[in-house]
Amino acid sequence: MEIVIVPDAEAGARVVADRFERVVRGAGEQGATLGLATGSSPVLAYAELIRRHREEGLSFAAGRAFLLDEYVGLGPADAQSYHRFIREHFTADVDIPDAAVLSPDGTAADPSAEAARYDAAIAAAGGIDLQVLGIGTNGHIAFNEPGSSLSSRTRHAALTRATIEANARFFADASEVPRTVLTQGLGTVREARRIVLTATGERKAAAVAAMIEGAVSARWPASCLQLHPAVTVVVDEAAASRLELAEDYRAAQQVLAD
Ligand code: F6R
Repeated sequence: MEIVIVPDAEAGARVVADRFERVVRGAGEQGATLGLATGSSPVLAYAELIRRHREEGLSFAAGRAFLLDEYVGLGPADAQSYHRFIREHFTADVDIPDAAVLSPDGTAADPSAEAARYDAAIAAAGGIDLQVLGIGTNGHIAFNEPGSSLSSRTRHAALTRATIEANARFFADASEVPRTVLTQGLGTVREARRIVLTATGERKAAAVAAMIEGAVSARWPASCLQLHPAVTVVVDEAAASRLELAEDYRAAQQVLAD
């Protein structure tokens, strides 16, 4: 894993945006396939990408995107759906066609069939070139909660109480947060060719330490990223505060930058 410790969230957003820009420009006319997370963690990076689109000609027009997850029961028109979230925080403000931004259908009559269809759609598109991830305080990525199989595929899954409470800030109260989701599995996420995970704040520090320095275990689902050959973790000082080897990661970054 490449560990990048940054002074603040703005600096982290620039590092994440740099990774996107490299992949998007590298794909040229063929267009990149981007894997997009919702939630707070990537929002500043999306804002930076919007700025680069407006001011520096970074174009997403040839690209396509797949969301990580969607709440079961919420449709595209619902204000709290991730379908809406990604448009409001990113894709509506760049030139990617709306029809090229895909998410699981949270209103599908058969959620398991929809999950399988979505997993197959990612593969049919040739897989994901760059996946951005956040991490939950319990170590989840996408909505693979502790106990998820490290090989899991996109599926209908239940949220833990901790995740429901963490996401209640986007709803009137916790009772309105859907109890289940359609989420890419850990096996699905790990098929992305490159991954950049970003986390800020002390409340993510334990999960970040378990992900990077703990055993690979379903107890901390993000630890499965240790098995991926091209993962960058971008964390601020607070999120890095429980890393035993933080000084070594800083030194490695410095050597590679020289
Ligand atoms: C969102 C997602 C989740 C979030 C995680 C962190 O699409 O898949 O794994 O990345 O819950 O959420 P924030 O960034 O709001 O702290």
